[in-house]
Amino acid sequence: MNFSLNSNVITSTKADCLVVALPEKGDWPASTTEADGALGGLIGKLQKAGDVTGKNAETNLIPLSDQPWGRLLIVGTGKDADRNSANLRMALSAMMSVLKDGPSKSVLITLTETAVTGDESVSSELAKLSLIGRTLEDQLYLFSDFKSEKPTARKLNKVLVSASNAGKAQKEAFNLGLATGRGMNYTRDLGNTPPNICHPVWLAEQATKLAADHDCIKTEILDEKQMKKLGMNSLLAVGQGSTQPPRLIVMEYRGGNAKDKPHVLVGKGITFDSGGISLKPGAGMDEMKYDMGGSAAVFGAMQVLAETQPEINVVAVIAAAENMPDGNATRPGDIVTTMSGQTVEILNTDAEGRLVLCDALTYVKKFDPAAVIDLATLTGACIVALGHEATGLLANNDALANELLAAGDRASDKAWRLPLWDEYQPLLDSNFADMANIGGRSAGTITAACFLSRFTKEYNWAHLDIAGTAWHSGKAKGSSGRPVPLLVNYLMSHAGK
Ligand code: BES
Ligand code: MN
Ligand code: ZN
Repeated sequence: MNFSLNSNVITSTKADCLVVALPEKGDWPASTTEADGALGGLIGKLQKAGDVTGKNAETNLIPLSDQPWGRLLIVGTGKDADRNSANLRMALSAMMSVLKDGPSKSVLITLTETAVTGDESVSSELAKLSLIGRTLEDQLYLFSDFKSEKPTARKLNKVLVSASNAGKAQKEAFNLGLATGRGMNYTRDLGNTPPNICHPVWLAEQATKLAADHDCIKTEILDEKQMKKLGMNSLLAVGQGSTQPPRLIVMEYRGGNAKDKPHVLVGKGITFDSGGISLKPGAGMDEMKYDMGGSAAVFGAMQVLAETQPEINVVAVIAAAENMPDGNATRPGDIVTTMSGQTVEILNTDAEGRLVLCDALTYVKKFDPAAVIDLATLTGACIVALGHEATGLLANNDALANELLAAGDRASDKAWRLPLWDEYQPLLDSNFADMANIGGRSAGTITAACFLSRFTKEYNWAHLDIAGTAWHSGKAKGSSGRPVPLLVNYLMSHAGK
């Protein structure tokens, strides 16, 4: 798809379809007025007759003749006061669902002038242009690799976006949005790939591929022998019940000064979580292929960095393993010594995410990080607490936590903080080892983070529990691409110029 942002004079720009925004009340954007004038007052007449109302995300496609455009698509953008980023995205999504499989080859979109009045974090012109770019890309996503009947090729191949002021900064913001959308789609591809293909070694190959495609990315893959030598017994214990061997995947993007400390991203990469000997119930178990969603988001963010080349240093570490129950599998009651030297009694083999992450979190100390952010589909309890809207955030540093919350707001990819108070730590007490890997029924997301916090004392650290946000269940089942926008927004806010 060919996307571009320009200060087009819309009445002299030809396209198969012109898209205008129509608010439910109040003043029209200048481009809507301009189009209405060129079309002899058509839009006003349709509104007066009640054919178009401007209700948010309402779409009306009208064939035209003898105009620079073959069609007019009127997209409702609702009331000014209600227009937050979520509503704007809904309107853009509705627009894309009309356009993506429609007959128009080229489209001219004018929705950049619609102000996001109801959402301070996204009210800036540049944040909005990024959001638009991202939504255009992510709404074109299609995953049909495993369907024998391939979807028919799209006619749409050119998307012109017009902005009243399309200077360098505006274009950069728009392009960052497009790159973010592609990063999300890459994340979704990885998350949707079935677990008989997407296993730890395959995931490592994806890193090698990313490094081969982009000179600025270097990768190193650690196998079982190397991990054993480092003392990563906890990570290895998770993988030992599977015929698929675990891997530790390291990717480095060094775009900043050599002396700038790197931001480190750590991803949970359980390519399938059966629960192990503490086997999960059968219903919906297929969805546990997305238990590598944290690592998929890390891949997505790394691709965005590779494409946009910001001045920042970022290291990504992915703890990849498959959690399966064979004769060699870890048993409830087993005790392992982690890379940190602390011992863990594994009371439930289904609490495996923290077991792979703890060794990766010890490993990353060697990078002398500015901050470490781990991403994990860690607890079902997080879905109970926050549902599918907000990512759970826990951190040992208030400044880092606040930055991530703000990045999520700006990117319309929200997180919500939960407490990590010491009072919760005793829930992890074990009679036989330094700690247990589970904390009982209450506060499951917090006790999981408490476990991780015992391995992150030496640096600023935040944990993102994405169990509820990385995946859509139900009819739209599949990977969501979250929280790539949050990550990108956070990293870009640290990039020098
Ligand atoms: N991968 C799961 C968490 C999960 C559950 C993610 C549902 C997405 C949807 C994790 O490994 C797990 O099984 N956690 C257990 C922890 C429990 C045994 C303490 C859980 O949440 O039930
Ligand atoms: Mn599990
Ligand atoms: Zn898991």
